[in-house]
Amino acid sequence: EDADRLAAFEARVAADEFIEPKDWMPEAYRKTLVRQISQHAHSEIVGMLPEGNWISRAPTLRRKAILLAKVQDEAGHGLYLYCAAETLGTSRDEMTQALLEGRAKYSTIFNYPTLTWADIAAIGWLVDGAAIMNQVPLQRASYGPYARAMVKVCKEESFHQRQGYEAMMALAAGTPEQKAMAQDALDRWWWPSLMMFGPPDDQSPNSEQSMRWRIKRESNDALRQKFVDMTVPQAELIGLSLSDADLKWNKEKGGYDFGTPDWDEFFAVVRGEGPVARERMKARRDAWESGAWVRAAAMAHADKRAARFAA
Ligand code: ACO
Repeated sequence: EDADRLAAFEARVAADEFIEPKDWMPEAYRKTLVRQISQHAHSEIVGMLPEGNWISRAPTLRRKAILLAKVQDEAGHGLYLYCAAETLGTSRDEMTQALLEGRAKYSTIFNYPTLTWADIAAIGWLVDGAAIMNQVPLQRASYGPYARAMVKVCKEESFHQRQGYEAMMALAAGTPEQKAMAQDALDRWWWPSLMMFGPPDDQSPNSEQSMRWRIKRESNDALRQKFVDMTVPQAELIGLSLSDADLKWNKEKGGYDFGTPDWDEFFAVVRGEGPVARERMKARRDAWESGAWVRAAAMAHADKRAARFAA
């Protein structure tokens, strides 16, 4: 019977149908989705920290209003994603515990510090740009709740990307000091942005199965290439350069050749050895602990209401 169900499941996936929460699914598919979606959610939430760091120091009221809205959007993305993961039978508390105990990951990119205002521009332009590149195909992921969450996330991410690029453009066209600040931020964020797409395909243990299940629609390397091809002309347009001596247009492949990211650094950051990893996790733990009274109060209120309703 299980073999029949598995065959029916695989046929639906192959026909590009969405799998929904109450449908039968192999346990390994469920587990992979919980892993990827919860880590995606954690990334959105941890991703608020480097930018939140600049809300009180944004250079103008307009920039501050935009940054506030963007950081709130990231919180929203985290919440849709936790909800999508909960439809697979894992509670948000369990997912949070996994993060706090180091059993779940979040994106390597958020383990780098935001040193100047130009870092906020670079994050919008590059980090959100890379996020969209990765998330647009996820709108067609085989699991319905994940795919649908991505639709709204992608719309918001494209606004984030444009505001970042516009902020970078303003700095690049500013005083020599501002332009130097923009270039410095680009130099520091370029390689970590390329690493966001994950390890090279031949070192990506989950890719083959996830592609077969149509959770992932494009490989890590294919998306990285698309991101480079999109970003190089954007950098040229605003007069900034990419710190990659191997970057060169390749006519035959119709894309850029580019250098190899420092994969040792990537794997170290994945292991939790990033420059500000400890600070990030401390911030999450502190937030969880200092929010304990809110959760307790909300539960007490819900219990009281339920009791009144039952009476
Ligand atoms: N940061 C941290 N961990 C990573 C990263 C990264 N940039 N890239 C890969 N890894 C981890 C994987 O999670 C996996 O570990 P796990 O098995 O313990 O989960 C391991 O490295 C090997 O990588 P892959 O086999 O390639 O893993 P996977 O097939 O899951 O692909 C990817 C990784 C591309 C990140 C995928 O999970 C994905 O598309 N996730 C959704 C997008 C997302 O999470 N974006 C977050 C950043 S964008 C933002 O939130 C603003």
